[in-house]
Amino acid sequence: MSGGGKSRLGILLSGRGSNFEAIGRRVLSGELDCEIGVVFSNKPGAPGLARARDLGFPVAMRESAGAERTAFDAEVVRVLRQHRVDWVCLAGYMRLLSGTFVSEFPGHILNIHPSLLPAFPGLDAQYQALAHGVKVTGCTVHFVDENLDSGPILLQAAVPVLDDDTVETLSSRILIEEHRLYSEAIRWVLRGNYRLEGRRVIET
Ligand code: GAR
Repeated sequence: MSGGGKSRLGILLSGRGSNFEAIGRRVLSGELDCEIGVVFSNKPGAPGLARARDLGFPVAMRESAGAERTAFDAEVVRVLRQHRVDWVCLAGYMRLLSGTFVSEFPGHILNIHPSLLPAFPGLDAQYQALAHGVKVTGCTVHFVDENLDSGPILLQAAVPVLDDDTVETLSSRILIEEHRLYSEAIRWVLRGNYRLEGRRVIET
């Protein structure tokens, strides 16, 4: 936490921003005891950026298309530092972070993914779950390392797959759980009552 005040989140998104909005509304209502330092997007037209502006949060954008990864990530870190961010929350940020980025915020980067990891990492997790024929899927909040959807798991929520599900219906039921789970995970890490045993995140 910077300067003895409240912890400051940096939210990174690439698109719609509904997970950001769920977090942002809880910050505004005081349900989450922290501040949002900046909402950052790597896509100029991301609807999530407009939502952030409408809610009154500071926003920043740097276009990643065509940029070299290390230089781009260094610039994102600079933006986050400029806004005195302590915790980085990936919320539909569709880029793998470089090792340098991860080492700038050790143990302080979270991601949400729409499956029960380690099942179905990567893109289109809800489609992957349907195509595989699993009966239960869900979402995962995990710490981020430099590999795809792979760090230690903080919280998971299960969602049943129904016989008549499409990618859209399944995704929307998972999303309801995502919006609840991410804030719960943030509340937990801000309280700080956990420790890592290997990959296991243990409540203390
Ligand atoms: C969410 O479903 C999130 O779990 C997923 O992207 C969506 C973003 O929606 N993230 C990933 O697949 C990361 N691998 P949102 O922009 O409305 O929050």
